[in-house]
Amino acid sequence: MGCVQAVLAGKVGIALGVANHRSLAWSIAQAWHNAGARVLIGYQGERFKKNIDELLPELGPDSLAFPCDVASDQELDRFFTELASKVGYLDFLLHSIAYAPREALEGRLLDTGRAAFNTALDVSVYSLIGLAQRAAPLLRKGGSLLTLTYYGSQKVVPHYNVMGVAKAALEATVRYLAFDLGPQGIRVNAISAGPVNTLAARGIPGFTEMLRYAAQRSPLQRNVSLPELGAVATFLVSEAASAITGQVVFADCGYSIMGG
Ligand SMILES: NC(=O)c1ccc[n+]([C@@H]2O[C@H](COP(=O)([O-])OP(=O)(O)OC[C@H]3O[C@@H](n4cnc5c(N)ncnc54)[C@H](O)[C@@H]3O)[C@@H](O)[C@H]2O)c1
Repeated sequence: MGCVQAVLAGKVGIALGVANHRSLAWSIAQAWHNAGARVLIGYQGERFKKNIDELLPELGPDSLAFPCDVASDQELDRFFTELASKVGYLDFLLHSIAYAPREALEGRLLDTGRAAFNTALDVSVYSLIGLAQRAAPLLRKGGSLLTLTYYGSQKVVPHYNVMGVAKAALEATVRYLAFDLGPQGIRVNAISAGPVNTLAARGIPGFTEMLRYAAQRSPLQRNVSLPELGAVATFLVSEAASAITGQVVFADCGYSIMGG
């Protein structure tokens, strides 16, 4: 590892939301590891354990993985108790988690039921607050929280529906958490990623068409790559971004600047 790349040497980060090797959280975990950080993994539960066991060795011998279903306060408490006993402190935490019931991503937002709405907002938004509450005491000064959002928070993207509402709430949550945690020297930011073919993305009807459309319409005429997202995430948790907090940083090959 060259010294230019080791910008996160001596740091400890945890990435929540690794489902498999395509997950945005996995590319970010790899980038952090390559930049010299010790990287731990949080995953949803038993369903993904086999994938995690296969991937974890790539993060080196000091990595660890813990299950955590963010929809449960008890799980969050257990997760952080275990984390505190195993590592003691953190420098950064990635929240790369979203979920909406399938039926809420079909048809119209107009038809969204209360239960689907609550589930989407609970898992995709409240979870960042629940994680921030418990991570704050472990985060060292200069530490940060990072989450993933999407342009469907600002503009209508057909089928994104309740996830667009959830991402708008997530982006507002980033700003309020940045205000709350700023005095402690902790930053909070979001990356607004262009479309990438992942497990969650495949739950959105017409996603392949979205990928093609975004590549055609972006100024760079392509979609963002996983290593590019890893590089942005490395920058945002590094000392180089020490004055950046409460922001949504677009990594979308410029798609979001287009007006028509
Ligand atoms: N893929 C894209 O095109 C794209 C674009 C912009 C933003 N994002 C965002 O990136 C983030 C990661 O998604 P991804 O595309 O890597 O897909 P992914 O399916 O690989 O990751 C989503 C993760 O959320 C986790 N999750 C869902 N419910 C959970 C729960 N109750 N407890 C714990 N974990 C839970 C899943 O286990 C999974 O690891 C999401 O917030 C997504 O909205 C994705």
